[in-house]
Amino acid sequence: MDFRLPQQVPMSEMTDRHTALLSETPVDALSREQAAVELLQLSRVLAYHDHCYYHLAAPEITDGMYDALYQRNRAIERRFPDLRRIDSPTHRVGAAPAPEFEKVKHRKPMLSLDNAFSEDDVQDFMSRIKRFLKLSEQEKIACIVEPKIDGLSATLHYQNGQFVLGATRGDGQEGENISANLRTLREVPLVLQGDAVPESLEIRGEVYMTKADFEVLNQKRIELGEPPFANPRNAAAGSLRLLDPSITAQRPLRFFAYGYESLSNRPDQTQESILISLKRWGFRVSPLIALCNDVDTMIYHYNVIQSERAGLPYEIDGVVYKVNDLSLQARLGTVGRAPRHSIAHKFVAEQAETVVDLIDVQVGRTGVLTPVAHLRPVLVGGVMVSRASLHNDDEIRRKDIRVGDTVIIQRAGDVIPQVVDVVVSKRPIDSVSFVFPTTCPVCTSVVVQTPGIVARRCSGGFSCMAQAVERMRHFVSRDAFDIEGLGERHLQSFFNWGIARTPLDLFLIEERNHQVIPPLEAREGWGVKAARNVFDAINKRHHITLDRFIYALGIPQVGHVTARVLAQHFKTIDAVMTAPLDRLCALEGVGVIMANELIQFFASSDNRILINGLVEQIEIEPLETLAFEDSLFAGKTVVFTGTLEKLSRAEAKAQAERLGAHVASTVSRKTDYVVVGTDAGKKLKQAQELALTILTEEQWIDMVSL
Ligand code: IVH
Repeated sequence: MDFRLPQQVPMSEMTDRHTALLSETPVDALSREQAAVELLQLSRVLAYHDHCYYHLAAPEITDGMYDALYQRNRAIERRFPDLRRIDSPTHRVGAAPAPEFEKVKHRKPMLSLDNAFSEDDVQDFMSRIKRFLKLSEQEKIACIVEPKIDGLSATLHYQNGQFVLGATRGDGQEGENISANLRTLREVPLVLQGDAVPESLEIRGEVYMTKADFEVLNQKRIELGEPPFANPRNAAAGSLRLLDPSITAQRPLRFFAYGYESLSNRPDQTQESILISLKRWGFRVSPLIALCNDVDTMIYHYNVIQSERAGLPYEIDGVVYKVNDLSLQARLGTVGRAPRHSIAHKFVAEQAETVVDLIDVQVGRTGVLTPVAHLRPVLVGGVMVSRASLHNDDEIRRKDIRVGDTVIIQRAGDVIPQVVDVVVSKRPIDSVSFVFPTTCPVCTSVVVQTPGIVARRCSGGFSCMAQAVERMRHFVSRDAFDIEGLGERHLQSFFNWGIARTPLDLFLIEERNHQVIPPLEAREGWGVKAARNVFDAINKRHHITLDRFIYALGIPQVGHVTARVLAQHFKTIDAVMTAPLDRLCALEGVGVIMANELIQFFASSDNRILINGLVEQIEIEPLETLAFEDSLFAGKTVVFTGTLEKLSRAEAKAQAERLGAHVASTVSRKTDYVVVGTDAGKKLKQAQELALTILTEEQWIDMVSL
């Protein structure tokens, strides 16, 4: 295969013409040559917009415009499959499963790092380097300090700026070709940006999963009865080495670049400038980098990074010190499999011992039962921990965790702490193994377990308060119906009083209120005004777009991205409800497991009754794709601040996005409009200082309705 790129399209030109790119020629009427040219342009333009969206967080076109370009690219590829380019973004959804990974020899070895565990070790590292270079102890050698990301290393080969191959580290000499999987990662650019890109380049970096994405993935796995991953690193490893790239494409994997090997020219002289180049080419680089001139400053930054550790969205297990000057690095060379110029300074594991006071079983929105250990509060790595998820029955049995046990818990930077081990020697003599309940702890319905699936579920459906309240909570949440003022406490009361037990009931509360004894306004904690506010908040939401409606139903596995894909494809709720398995599976981001969840969800009579009832109460609008070329806000950045009286934040955001604007959360010089509600504080002040255009809510509403 020929990997050489035809002439690169300059970025400036691309930006000017990106909106005009959608050719008018129907795909069926394209000649082969026209198709090849258009596919080249589309891959360039889509790569550029991926870069703007994922790396610069400054999209230049709306999702709708991006989708249109993407769909056009796909339609042309479907007509001319042999013209599909290696850098086409359609590879991001995953190629066909491979029987096994082929081996790849690294052109430059992928080394590992020696470890330092104490300040003395770091001091020794520096002294060794100075001795090796024949420098005196007083001489300064600048080092870069970088966080050590806890993921898996990968190497990405680029030829003339184009991604051609990606591999695991393997034994350092030879890894496995996981190109199809790596291509699905948004943070792996398929085409590099900028002009000073070496012709033949290997990018080295770490594939990882954020803590939040790991939690969501694990929750889904538990609900499906699949064993949860122990930590984000294992989740990333498991996802990266899947033989079916279409499954990898659904896993939220990310990539931080920390170095490169060039087989042609090397534009950089220092590690610091390597990081700058990586960023310019379109990679994500850790922002927690420091350049230090002595060991004391290096240790200072180690401590700074350690103190930030718990709050970082991803896991790190230490820092890496690297001699900054690449000519010194070359002189230092390697010892065994590790370079002399770098060392990893590991954090001490954050573990603590405490006692399990109680094991409680919680019921989630879809009825899945999750056991949770209530712990005697203990400090772990600066955070007070009093609960730990025990995931499921299998996990408790495997570790034989009992009430009264002394356990070792760990917060490996994790948001949710884990029970690592039981200190059996400290077990009370009268302790008994935990028995998983056979009836729901909330509603006493029978607990069911599908054969072959680990998760146990309550069979109570809407009659189970936990499930019903969680379903309603999800239904009113911000990305769903966005009904204000209905928190968990109110919804629990509504359930107990028989006022609302399903999302449909919420739309009937006002109509039925006079039949309820006593009516809502006469109940404890309520009054005429409070009841009126809730009725009004619900009444404002009789119109909803199809994607939000689908999301609001709380179908297992279906988040707002999938809901949008379904809404865009099927256009009506009826069509979604009757879609056969093969049509669902053909959609981007929908795998067999999710398709089956959808089919099962719509097969349930409770759910069908709910949807049919809702359809009578509300108006479901198809997804709009507005032409916004003429809009005042196209391409502009808008910040909302303060309390808006007429609009919910979600609606204001949707309005802005429909008009082609980008909504940001912080005010900067790049902000075009700041819309202020009441009680606007710091952001309003910043906007005034920067002399930005400030709009009141009224003015915003007037302008968007022009
Ligand atoms: S430099 C010579 N920098 O830690 C090896 N590694 O054994 C070059 N890692 O497998 C590695 N964050 O995948 C380097 N900022 C960072 C890193 C990092 C994580 C991983 C790397 C390697 C392991 C070290």
